[in-house]
Amino acid sequence: MKILGISGSPRKQGNTEVLIEEALQAASQEGAEVELFTAAGKTIASCDGCRACDKTGKCHIKDDMQPLYDKLLAADGIIFGTPVYMFTMTSLTKAIIERTFALGRPDRNLKNKVGGVIVTAGSLGEVSALKDIYFFFVTRQILPANFVAAYASGKGDVKDLPKCMVAAGNLGRQMVKIIQTQFRYPAEFDRTHMAFGTHTK
Ligand SMILES: Cc1cc2nc3c(=O)[nH]c(=O)nc-3n(C[C@H](O)[C@H](O)[C@H](O)COP(=O)(O)O)c2cc1C
Repeated sequence: MKILGISGSPRKQGNTEVLIEEALQAASQEGAEVELFTAAGKTIASCDGCRACDKTGKCHIKDDMQPLYDKLLAADGIIFGTPVYMFTMTSLTKAIIERTFALGRPDRNLKNKVGGVIVTAGSLGEVSALKDIYFFFVTRQILPANFVAAYASGKGDVKDLPKCMVAAGNLGRQMVKIIQTQFRYPAEFDRTHMAFGTHTK
């Protein structure tokens, strides 16, 4: 069982990374193989809308997203972590989510993976990030696990919130338990449209 944590913070060893690491460590103690991918210091462009991935399942943009595709596909569970920047997720987190557009093909997708969320902020805007990430889960048939929301401003300040650190560990353990249930979305609902317009005529 593999659990991947993705930090969308540009700040290395910040609050988001600290909480993801706590979750991953707990998951590892339950027997999961864990890995942290941090976007800090990496170049991850937004999707350029070329739509070549509709046919290939692959993105042509050669940047630091490329190694993440293989990690995403190999994972049984994924923890998306983001700080709140200007009342929602960071642009790095949004870019990563945009670029997963390429993983929407029958043979290359995120379906049936278990998703957890960690959001950190100074004071305001966590719900905006949370709802967008959970909606992303629904549309990709990623089974949602719990979230952890932390209010901490300075680098690593979240370590001063012991209940929050415990909750992060619990998220990691919960993900292991959910993955063990081997939940599968029914295949008959694959590629079903939920929103209608000219693209569904
Ligand atoms: C550019 C920028 C914008 C931010 N915008 C918000 C915001 O809108 N709401 C908020 O509560 N905190 C905001 N913060 C504070 C961060 O969310 C907070 O410090 C968080 O813990 C950072 O996580 P990290 O340590 O993982 O990078 C902002 C920080 C920066 C640098």
